[in-house]
Amino acid sequence: MPGTRSVLRDSLLRRTPVRLALAFTLTVVVAYLVAVAVAYLWMRDDLVRRQDQRIEELFTLLATNTDQGDDAELVEAVRAQIAAAKDGHAVYQLLGPDGAVLATDILPVALPAGWSDQSASVLGRTGDIPYRVLVRKVGADRLAVGRDFSDLDALRETIQTAMLWSSLFALAVALGGGSVIALRIRRRLVAVKQTLDRVAEGDLGARLPLSGADDDIDRVSQQVNAALIRLAALVEGMRQVGVDIAHDLRTPLGRLRNHIAEALEATEQGTDTRPTLEQALAESDAIGNTFSALLRIAQIEAGARRARFAPVDLTATLRSVAEVYAEVAEDADMDLTLHDPGRPVWVKGDAELLVQAFANLVENAICHCPPGAAIRCDLGPEGHQAIVRIVDNGPGIPAQEREKVLRRLYRLERSRTTPGSGLGLSLVKAIADLHGARLSLGDAGPGLEIQLAFDLVTPGALTKL
Ligand SMILES: Nc1ncnc2c1ncn2[C@@H]1O[C@H](COP(=O)(O)OP(=O)(O)OP(=O)(O)O)[C@@H](O)[C@H]1O
Ligand SMILES: [Mg+2]
Repeated sequence: MPGTRSVLRDSLLRRTPVRLALAFTLTVVVAYLVAVAVAYLWMRDDLVRRQDQRIEELFTLLATNTDQGDDAELVEAVRAQIAAAKDGHAVYQLLGPDGAVLATDILPVALPAGWSDQSASVLGRTGDIPYRVLVRKVGADRLAVGRDFSDLDALRETIQTAMLWSSLFALAVALGGGSVIALRIRRRLVAVKQTLDRVAEGDLGARLPLSGADDDIDRVSQQVNAALIRLAALVEGMRQVGVDIAHDLRTPLGRLRNHIAEALEATEQGTDTRPTLEQALAESDAIGNTFSALLRIAQIEAGARRARFAPVDLTATLRSVAEVYAEVAEDADMDLTLHDPGRPVWVKGDAELLVQAFANLVENAICHCPPGAAIRCDLGPEGHQAIVRIVDNGPGIPAQEREKVLRRLYRLERSRTTPGSGLGLSLVKAIADLHGARLSLGDAGPGLEIQLAFDLVTPGALTKL
C-alpha cells in the first residue's frame, strides 16, 4: 500500500522512547567521533614535531662535516647519505655558492630557505605524500634535508580504519543499548496507556503498575494512582448519596401520595378535603426544602464560594448566633450560654456560611436535647487555631454513629419521629471542609461536644486579605 511505510516511520518517530534512543545513539557516536578526532590531531602535531626534530638532527649531523669553506667533506657526507637512504622517504640536496648542484637525489629545483612543505612532484618524486624540508646555508653552500610524511599518512590511515570500525561498534552498542532502554520505557508507557484506557471505560479500580525502581515514571504513576483512589471514593460517595436520596425520599413521597389519595376519597364522599390537602401541601413543601438543602450542600462542596472569602471575626459571628437562639432556647426551657475571649478572633471565610453552620449546631442541641438542657458555645484561640465548641448535656451521639450523622439524610433512629431531614450536619461538614476547618464530634459525658478548629489569620496577613 502506498504511504504505509512513511506512516509507519512517522508514527515510529513520534514515539518518545524511539526518539530518546535515536538521540542517545547520536550523542554517543558524535561524542566518540569528536574524541577520536581530538586524539588524532594531538598525535599528528606530536608526529610533525618529532619529524622536524629528526630532520634538524640529520641536518646538524651533516653540517658538522664542513670545515671553514672546505665543502668537499660535506659533499662526501651528503652523497653518502643519499647512497644510504634507499627507501625514498628522505631528500637531500647540496648546492654550491653559484647554485651548482654538488649532490642531490631530487630535481635541481631552488627550494625556499627555512622550513617548507613540498609536494612530491615538485621534488621529482612519485606518489602523493608531501615532504617536509629544511633549507639552510652551511658555509657558502645551501643544504636541503627533508623527509616525507609517510609516517603521518600511515597514522591517518590507521586512525581512519580504527575510527570506522570502532564507530560502527559504538553505533551498534548505542543502538542496542538505546533500543533496550526505549523498549523498557515503551513497555511501561503501554501499560500506563492500557490502564488509562480501562479508566476511560469506567473501571475506576484500575491502577498503574509500578516497576519498583522508584524512578520518575513510578512517582508519576503513584500520584495518578492516588488521584484514581480519590476519584473512585468521590464517585462511590456520589453514588451512595444518590441511593440514599432515592431511598429517603420514598417515605415523604409515599406520605404525599397517601394525602392525595385521601383527598380524592374525601371528594368522592363529599367530605371536607381541606385538612388533607393542607397536609399534602406541607409534605410537598418539606420535600422541596430537602431538595433546596441538598442543592445548597452540593454548591458549597463545589467550592465556588471560596472566591468570596474575607476576614471574619468569629467572636462577632458566634455572638450573633447566640443572641438569635437565646430566646428559642428559653422557650424550650434550656440554658444557652456563650464564652468568648471578649476580643475579635479572625479567620478567613464566608461569614454567612459560618453563621449558618453555628446556627445548625445550636439548633440541633435545642431540637435533640430534652427540656432543661444546658447548651454552651465556646470560642477560644488555641495555638495557631481558633476553636469553636458547641456542647450540650443531652443524649449525645453514640461513637459508632458519629461518622454516619455527617452523611446526607442520615438521622439517628430515635430522631426519625421528630421534624428535620438529616441535612443539618452534612451542611456543617461541607462548610467546615470549604474553610479547611476540622470538624470533630465527641462525648461531653453526658451530651454531645462538637468542635470546629479553624486556622487563625495573623494580624499581618489580615491587612493583605
Ligand atoms: N446535639 C445533638 N444531640 C443528640 N443528637 C444529635 C445532636 N445533633 C444531631 N444529633 C443527631 O444527628 C442526626 C443528624 O443531625 P442533622 O442536623 O444532620 O439532622 P436533623 O437535625 O435530624 O435534621 P435537620 O438538621 O436537617 O433539620 C440527628 O437526627 C440526631 O439524631
Ligand atoms: Mg439538624
